[in-house]
Amino acid sequence: MAHPVQRQAEIVELSPVGAYHRLVLRAEGIAERVLPGHFAALAVDRADGSLLLRRPFFVHRADPAEATVEVVFAEAGRGTRALARQRVGDVVDVVAPLGNAFPIPTGPASALMVAGGYGGVPLFGLAERITEQGGSVGFILGASTADRLFGVEQARAFTPDVLVTTEDGSYGIRGQITLPLTEAMRAIEARVVYASGPTGMLRAVAEVCAREGVRCFTAVEQTMACGVGVCMSCVLPVVGEDGVSRLVRSCVDGPCLDGSRVRWEDIGAVPPDLEGAAAMGGC
Ligand SMILES: Cc1cc2nc3c(=O)[nH]c(=O)nc-3n(C[C@H](O)[C@H](O)[C@H](O)COP(=O)(O)OP(=O)(O)OC[C@H]3O[C@@H](n4cnc5c(N)ncnc54)[C@H](O)[C@@H]3O)c2cc1C
Ligand code: FES
Repeated sequence: MAHPVQRQAEIVELSPVGAYHRLVLRAEGIAERVLPGHFAALAVDRADGSLLLRRPFFVHRADPAEATVEVVFAEAGRGTRALARQRVGDVVDVVAPLGNAFPIPTGPASALMVAGGYGGVPLFGLAERITEQGGSVGFILGASTADRLFGVEQARAFTPDVLVTTEDGSYGIRGQITLPLTEAMRAIEARVVYASGPTGMLRAVAEVCAREGVRCFTAVEQTMACGVGVCMSCVLPVVGEDGVSRLVRSCVDGPCLDGSRVRWEDIGAVPPDLEGAAAMGGC
């Protein structure tokens, strides 16, 4: 787990980026702790005390020299709508960094980044780290419609190996992100795939990677309450290295998990073979 700190962070930028909002926060002591895959938990819309739970967001960029961290968020409900109405100069209570980071291959490796919607948010810092150590990356960026894509120009500035998919065909290849996945993995001889996006997409990407015999790490977005490993609201079933399935807390044991170990079909359930299932009343 990261070593999080709580800070009152000043908003230094809040601007639209496609269908999303880019939020840059300034607070000492956070940026230097952030690794790709970490997330930040922001207190939002607490004026009348009704939104007690912090909202989690992946860190997109962290700049220790400027003491800033950047998140990119979609308006999903009341909390994110309130966040979008904040102004430069306002102060947000933030706890970060949280969760684990993506494992990074040692030495030069070819990696494919697969991002659905704003899923590219945690993948660009990772791509930078991999190329810094002599590796290479490709991207597949997908969304339902063109305005929900994130990071297309950023990816193209990074590498020529960029494929874009939209389900309605409004940009790039028409279809789901998994359509060109196998071909893209083979084209760049990917040793590892990193995926971030909706759960259904992560599951589909993990299945393709398993078929192709390529390692796959996924950034999961289970609904979280405490964000620090106490409440168990964010658990999902994962097969351990000993072959035993357990519920793991995605806020501290994740959000970056080996996609081949997550029991995607059992998320939200307590399968009977899970360690401790009988005590939980599951079957
Ligand atoms: C590790 C992690 C990283 C995330 N990174 C990003 C990101 O980079 N950009 C982004 O736009 N969104 C991200 N999310 C999702 C974001 O946290 C939710 O969209 C946000 O919490 C919704 O809050 P709300 O009050 O606007 O919506 P609500 O009205 O509370 O709910 C709207 C939707 O958001 C889901 N949601 C609500 N609270 C949470 C929560 N605490 N955790 C997860 N989902 C929740 C609900 O299940 C519902 O589907 C991330 C979630 C997790 C767990
Ligand atoms: S959110 Fe509380 S244990 Fe993960």
